[in-house]
Amino acid sequence: MNIGRIITDRRKALGLTQQALAEKLNISFQAVSKWENGMSYPDVTILPELAAVLKASIDSLLGYSSQSLTEYDKRYNGEGYYWGLSPNNLCYEIMRLKPPTKPYKVLDIGCGEGKDAVFLARNGYNVTAFDISEKGLSKAGELADSCGVKIDFFKADIRDFRLETDFDIIFSSGVFHYIPQEQRVNVIEGLKEHTASNGINIINVFVRKPFIPLPPDIEESELAADDWKSGELFMYYHDWMFHKNDEQIFDCNSSGVPHKHCMDVMIAEKY
Ligand SMILES: C[S@@+](CC[C@H](N)C(=O)[O-])C[C@H]1O[C@@H](n2cnc3c(N)ncnc32)[C@H](O)[C@@H]1O
Repeated sequence: MNIGRIITDRRKALGLTQQALAEKLNISFQAVSKWENGMSYPDVTILPELAAVLKASIDSLLGYSSQSLTEYDKRYNGEGYYWGLSPNNLCYEIMRLKPPTKPYKVLDIGCGEGKDAVFLARNGYNVTAFDISEKGLSKAGELADSCGVKIDFFKADIRDFRLETDFDIIFSSGVFHYIPQEQRVNVIEGLKEHTASNGINIINVFVRKPFIPLPPDIEESELAADDWKSGELFMYYHDWMFHKNDEQIFDCNSSGVPHKHCMDVMIAEKY
């Protein structure tokens, strides 16, 4: 259980010192320090108050990230498309490396409202896509219908979904940070195994840098998953051929408050 880490992240995201958190809970700052260092756990009787002060659910403090479902459903419930309709630049990389000279099989993991899946289907790829958000999938289905393309959309959770067929291209953008540390090897081994020979995996993941503050609109579910380290994604693919392994720091204004993210971006080919 990494409750200490979750408390630290949440506390810092709210701009609280250990002392300030301790005062709100009427306990000593040493107690907070011990939780955060993993030397003790908060007593169950203090969890409701701790969750309230940290503006988090008890589930998320304990590392259960079911919040992602409701958070994204809420985002996708609004008018229009939350992430817009322009395809991710990585879709053009797919077209460059695997031009659709035949209907290559693509899997889009965490497809959201389907902009990338639909773009690829419109360009001749045979696309399958899943997400955990029903609202996202329903909008993705509508987008595909309005563009006259057929896509196999379904609901699944990347943390426990296992592939049964092979794909030429496996693509995922902005999703892998939901995979907890202890599940990464299994999830990624499954993707590698079910990539066709000479197929590619195109993946990006947020990585935590000590000099970049937490984004102001970070979700509880994102705090609940462990951070990815710089280069960790590349390490899982050490035995594949890299077309790209890049780390990018970029500006974001998603909450109306300018902030930065750091992302590792990888294109690897099964060789
Ligand atoms: C930042 S959005 C990216 C959406 C899309 N890939 C895009 O770039 O437009 C993250 C997506 O991951 C989905 N997601 C979160 N947790 C997930 C999980 N455990 N399994 C599958 N999808 C998940 C969310 O519902 C959301 O659509």
